[in-house]
Amino acid sequence: MTFRYPDGDETILEHFNLKVPRGTNVAIVGETGAGKSTLVNLVCRFFEPTEGRILIDGRDARERSQLWLHSNIGYVLQTPHLFSGTIRDNLRYGAPDATDEEIMEALKTVSADGIVARSEKGLDTEVGEGGDLLSTGEKQLLSFARAILCDPKILVLDEATSSIDTFTEQVIQNAIGKVIEGRTTFMIAHRLSTVRGADVILVVKGGRIIESGTHRELLAKRGCYHGLWTRQYEAEATEAAFKVLSGREATE
Ligand SMILES: Nc1ncnc2c1ncn2[C@@H]1O[C@H](COP(=O)(O)OP(=O)(O)O)[C@@H](O)[C@H]1O
Ligand SMILES: [Mg+2]
Repeated sequence: MTFRYPDGDETILEHFNLKVPRGTNVAIVGETGAGKSTLVNLVCRFFEPTEGRILIDGRDARERSQLWLHSNIGYVLQTPHLFSGTIRDNLRYGAPDATDEEIMEALKTVSADGIVARSEKGLDTEVGEGGDLLSTGEKQLLSFARAILCDPKILVLDEATSSIDTFTEQVIQNAIGKVIEGRTTFMIAHRLSTVRGADVILVVKGGRIIESGTHRELLAKRGCYHGLWTRQYEAEATEAAFKVLSGREATE
């Protein structure tokens, strides 16, 4: 598959080829601009390949109906999107028959029930054009609940916790662990500690997979992933030491 954005002249993915067995947890890492989001946006069919195709269960994704896609592919994107309408409308997007109880259950799983509790109108709260009445973090949480609610075959998480506070992120990490089990998932995470359990980690650079394997395999290779991991580990250790020194730890 080859891909160029409709309004761009640069080829982002060139002769890209990837086969993912059902139920595999795929993690994608790499620097900003590597093409990670582009790749998962193609999986979600927000764009079509310029050349080549994407097969899901052996069938060209373009042959699938919108309804099939909405109920089989769940996603939480880096820039989450909601539709104007109520929280309930947004959550039912991929699961039109969901009851309020089921919706609340999904919201609780990702600690998003507080958003509803805080609003006078509860699930009837209007989110505004594109969800603009909410913060990015709140939009991510609601997208998450929406993705869980439709119980999708394929789940895409693109830096899904990037705008969520550290405490809630911890809660969500646990929820993610449960939700991705046995499901085909594509996860892009900035924090490498959250991808180490993936069945396969792809290191992407310039729109190409330069390394792939499990966390252990990639560390043993002492290549690009090893470099990313070491740098991040050191940065986190420094940050932790700094927190202790400045006495911030006690308040967090
Ligand atoms: N909507 C778009 N239109 C044109 N170019 C884009 C668009 N989105 C991303 N790009 C370009 O595609 C490349 C890969 O971006 P992206 O997939 O967002 O990388 P990553 O998620 O790894 O940071 C970058 O060069 C970026 O500028
Ligand atoms: Mg991205």
